[in-house]
Amino acid sequence: MKTLLRVKGIVKRFPGVLALNGVNFELQEGEVHTLLGENGAGKTTLMNVIFGLYKPDEGEIEIMGKKVQIKSPHDALKYGIGMVQQHFTLVPSFSVAENVILGLPGENLQDAVKRIRDISNTYGLDVDPNAKIWQLSVGERQRVEIIKLLYIGARVVILDEPTAVLTPQETKALFKAIRKMKENGTGIIFISHKLNEVMEISDRVTVMKKGKVVGTVKRGEFDQRKLASMMVGREVVMEVEREKAKPGEVVLKVDNVTAKSDKGHSALNGISLEVRAGEILGIAGVAGNGQRELAEIIYGLREVESGKVELLGEDITNKDVLYRILKGISYIPQDRKGVALSPNLSVAENLHLKRQTKGFFYNHDKVYKRAQELIKKYNIKTPSPDVAVKYLSGGNMQKVVIAREFELKPKLIIAVHPTRGLDVASMEFVYRSLIKARDEGAAVLLLAGELYEIFNLSDRVGVIYEGEIVGYTTPDPTPENIEKIGLMMAGVRA
Ligand SMILES: Nc1ncnc2c1ncn2[C@@H]1O[C@H](COP(=O)(O)OP(=O)(O)O)[C@@H](O)[C@H]1O
Ligand SMILES: [Mg+2]
Repeated sequence: MKTLLRVKGIVKRFPGVLALNGVNFELQEGEVHTLLGENGAGKTTLMNVIFGLYKPDEGEIEIMGKKVQIKSPHDALKYGIGMVQQHFTLVPSFSVAENVILGLPGENLQDAVKRIRDISNTYGLDVDPNAKIWQLSVGERQRVEIIKLLYIGARVVILDEPTAVLTPQETKALFKAIRKMKENGTGIIFISHKLNEVMEISDRVTVMKKGKVVGTVKRGEFDQRKLASMMVGREVVMEVEREKAKPGEVVLKVDNVTAKSDKGHSALNGISLEVRAGEILGIAGVAGNGQRELAEIIYGLREVESGKVELLGEDITNKDVLYRILKGISYIPQDRKGVALSPNLSVAENLHLKRQTKGFFYNHDKVYKRAQELIKKYNIKTPSPDVAVKYLSGGNMQKVVIAREFELKPKLIIAVHPTRGLDVASMEFVYRSLIKARDEGAAVLLLAGELYEIFNLSDRVGVIYEGEIVGYTTPDPTPENIEKIGLMMAGVRA
């Protein structure tokens, strides 16, 4: 086995952040070396250094045993290093083939179309070389990015969280392509924080935490529990214990609702669902199928075109947000900084926000004292209640949101990607909080992208596709059920 790539002692500083603190990493021919770590661990930064997007402050890079300077992606590609970034870089108005040969001198479009077909067949990366990028789904665009790297003949392929945007079927197809690349000697750096995927595809796993390597383990030396504990530095139980739900009366009823997206496309196409007191209804689906709009029509942030929203039998379709808050609807959005929190206000003020609407007026001493209690109760890590909330980590921001919302004893909780970007410990906290709220009688509507999150929390699972619920199933993590959900996520009705 040849070592394709080796980095030694990489240090990268950003203003106020030591993003990489002496990182060593290597990649061999024909291996999948996974980089695993909480958000902010430094994974993308390390890859950006290897791909020539960032200049390291210290450290060395070796390709095939030779020390090199990688000053730009152009340099990286010259050395056979390609990267599919978290945000794609294709030109929407160009065809697939035009994008693939973009920047390559002396390429003929006809020949390119033919070679792309070959690559596409060999690796099972299904895509039409003549299609325009704007016509393609996210999964297809990703395949184009990968084909482009194979076309160039990259020996090192970096995939930064490729599965975050894929259905289970697409992930399966991607893994097939990865295995094929391995056979041909390509080395793959795979980034993900989905432990089941990491288990499935990795030959080696390097765990990063706060800009440092925690350790590197080989296949056979790790399981999910081991990886999770390396990530957080202690054993975590991700399977949150919970009793069977005891559903009560119908709290939320969405009846045949249609609504438009921000861009004016139809986002909800006659969606109906019910959530009862004391149950968690998880909604699975590929991002962009109406999840956000669904949450917003329930909370009152988006106009309903037709249909009805009812809370405990009352028609609230045309009521404003304030009315809904007073009636007991709570919203835990993905965009903590934009929607749920006022970044420049202090932790104490953020904890107080909605209480004003309930008639608790602002009294600094009282607000401060109550904040101190909640900081303790919810284990929020902050230097003091007076610190602006924007300085907290993502996990602690989410704890502020949860503390504020759950203290209001909501009747209905809408949680949208509630753990996105959180470390494992904060994730566990959010899980326990949602289950506790359920057990205290709240109806919970959970919209999450990750299936394990749906499985961990839900009592029932619905699948959303193009603004409709296409079917329901149980939260059992069996291969058959995952297959079933995957098919529904791709639009096949149950
Ligand atoms: N361009 C940048 N400017 C300033 N800070 C950055 C920049 N890119 C990343 N960081 C910081 O570096 C740290 C590592 O980030 P990143 O590499 O994106 O983590 P990961 O990919 O593991 O989630 C984080 O604290 C992040 O805020
Ligand atoms: Mg990243």
